[in-house]
Amino acid sequence: MSVAIHRPDDQSADAPADALDRARTAAAADPDGYWRDHGRCVDWIVPYREVKDTSFDAADFRIRWFADGQLNVSANCLDRHLATRGDQVAIVWEGDEPGETLRVTYRDLHERVCRFANVLKAQGVAKGDRVTLYLPMIVEAAVAMLACARIGAVHSVVFGGFSPDSLAGRIRDCGSRIVITADEGCRGGKRIPLKANVDAALANCPDVASVLVVRRTGGDVAMTAGRDLWYDEAMAQAAPDCTPELMNAEDPLFILYTSGSTGSPKGVLHTTGGYLVWATKTFRDVFDYRDGEVFWCTADVGWVTGHSYVVYGPLASGATTVMFDGVPNYPDHGRFWETIDRLGVNIFYTAPTAIRALMREGDDWVKRSSRASLRLLGSVGEPINPEAWRWYHDVAGDGRCPIVDTWWQTETGGIMIAPSPHATDAKPGSATKPLPGVQPQLVDAEGQVLEGATEGNLVIADSWPGQMRTVWGDHERFVQTYFTTYPGKYFTGDGARRDADGDYWITGRVDDVINVSGHRMGTAEVESALVAHAKVSEAAVVGMPHDVKGQGIYAYVTLNADTAPSDELRDELRRWVRKEIGPIAVPDALQFAPGLPKTRSGKIMRRILRKIAEGDTSSLGDTSTLADPSVVDALVRDRVG
Ligand code: PRX
Repeated sequence: MSVAIHRPDDQSADAPADALDRARTAAAADPDGYWRDHGRCVDWIVPYREVKDTSFDAADFRIRWFADGQLNVSANCLDRHLATRGDQVAIVWEGDEPGETLRVTYRDLHERVCRFANVLKAQGVAKGDRVTLYLPMIVEAAVAMLACARIGAVHSVVFGGFSPDSLAGRIRDCGSRIVITADEGCRGGKRIPLKANVDAALANCPDVASVLVVRRTGGDVAMTAGRDLWYDEAMAQAAPDCTPELMNAEDPLFILYTSGSTGSPKGVLHTTGGYLVWATKTFRDVFDYRDGEVFWCTADVGWVTGHSYVVYGPLASGATTVMFDGVPNYPDHGRFWETIDRLGVNIFYTAPTAIRALMREGDDWVKRSSRASLRLLGSVGEPINPEAWRWYHDVAGDGRCPIVDTWWQTETGGIMIAPSPHATDAKPGSATKPLPGVQPQLVDAEGQVLEGATEGNLVIADSWPGQMRTVWGDHERFVQTYFTTYPGKYFTGDGARRDADGDYWITGRVDDVINVSGHRMGTAEVESALVAHAKVSEAAVVGMPHDVKGQGIYAYVTLNADTAPSDELRDELRRWVRKEIGPIAVPDALQFAPGLPKTRSGKIMRRILRKIAEGDTSSLGDTSTLADPSVVDALVRDRVG
């Protein structure tokens, strides 16, 4: 069903949509020609002659874009703007407390990045070295990312909500010898002990030789002599100029760890040229960014959305980007809307989970603000249910701002499927059409391509510049994970429906990944955290529907024979998962299960566990192949709701 969007001031709404259709056709007909033109949306120090050199076929597998071109990402985000917009605000930082605001111009940001690049060099960081960032949403996070890019170091940002163990695993996996952190973070009026977490993590990371610590709160933290340095003291001694390193298009830019259906999180590797082109072009196309506007993406830089649409896409486009170090419900439920008014935000990009949480608090919180500056709204991270879409549109956007529901993934580098920002009608819940250069297909379980209006598994048939290039340190895992389920195609792990207009409706993950509040969590990760507890013998984790989070985590836990279930133990296991992984992995429901439904060959039948978690126990399907069908009755009886 579509909704008409009333936009009285825009007479030319149809033309840009037509242009988008033409671009889609052009990119499909001649990818090389299309990207030869559009690769120029960023500045190249040595222009490329080669454009697309890719194949998803196992025998000939390669993904290379603009491979003989050379550029520098930080020069694109900073230096190229100095002559025209040096005094324009690049970053508006908004702290946890309303009005705790800092405005950093492009000139100022450039100087900070140069200084920090020199600090990194003084610490022995060279081109190709990995640098781990464990920071709050402060300007220094963007400075550190851009400083790495300036000298060709590869950053790995770890979300500040991850535990010391998770941080340690990510530091060791990419072999970084330096960590950038802050004394503490502030979120919703609470302090997060970032430096203390780093200290705990480093007990298991013998190769880390230096830690740079930003003073965010001034809280008391331990500093290890010979290893830990204060950021401000190092910056004061560093020179304010640093020539950007000449980088090949295919040189690594960053690693970002993300959860998959099996094993520990993978280090998704993005490279320099293709990623920057994708982040920049999608930022401009999807958000139709106009000079002088204020763009606010609420994501944390610990996630890919923060990389592409807080830092790289906006800064490469000379935009003013907001970095928000707070939460939507602090100090009250009006925080987003009050901040939009105060900062004059024109484009606002957030996640359905935040929209649903705020919707529940009622319209009054929104109506206290004018939101007159808003022009466009965006959604990302999970399917947006039509009810939340309508509230976002009608209440938050006063019925006058189009919504771009953007589907993409850490692996894709930037937005892949999204409505035109100029669309005059909209389908609540549909990400609509692929961007130019994206070739989605729906396939059945056997990989047969499905045509027309249908539903199936979402694959991408050909490469696009922003695609991840490998899993850090494990190329085989990259090929295995994404290109063997449907040989010759990139498998997204998502299911989708396509309607008669050719519009896509993402239905959610079809693998063992759960999407909790727009954050990806592998069921295997939570399971292995649970079984690491001394009293647990077995665990199985599935997703369950959750009103606010989209999906919640439902864990079935089998205890050791000598251990009795209790509420205390349930709480203890929750705390254990929080300590092992972080708060986002804590099960919403935890059921003690005397046995798990297994086939005779010992495979857990997750389908049954999902149904029980959903509360849909009337249609469990055939359970006769189970080794012991009676376990199902016990599971249904003891379901926690
Ligand atoms: O299931 C899809 C969902 O989020 C997954 C990617 O998660 P992540 O790599 O953490 O990146 C999140 C931010 C891009 C996808 O496989 N997803 C993301 N955006 C949407 C979505 N599902 C439906 N609609 C979306 N707009």
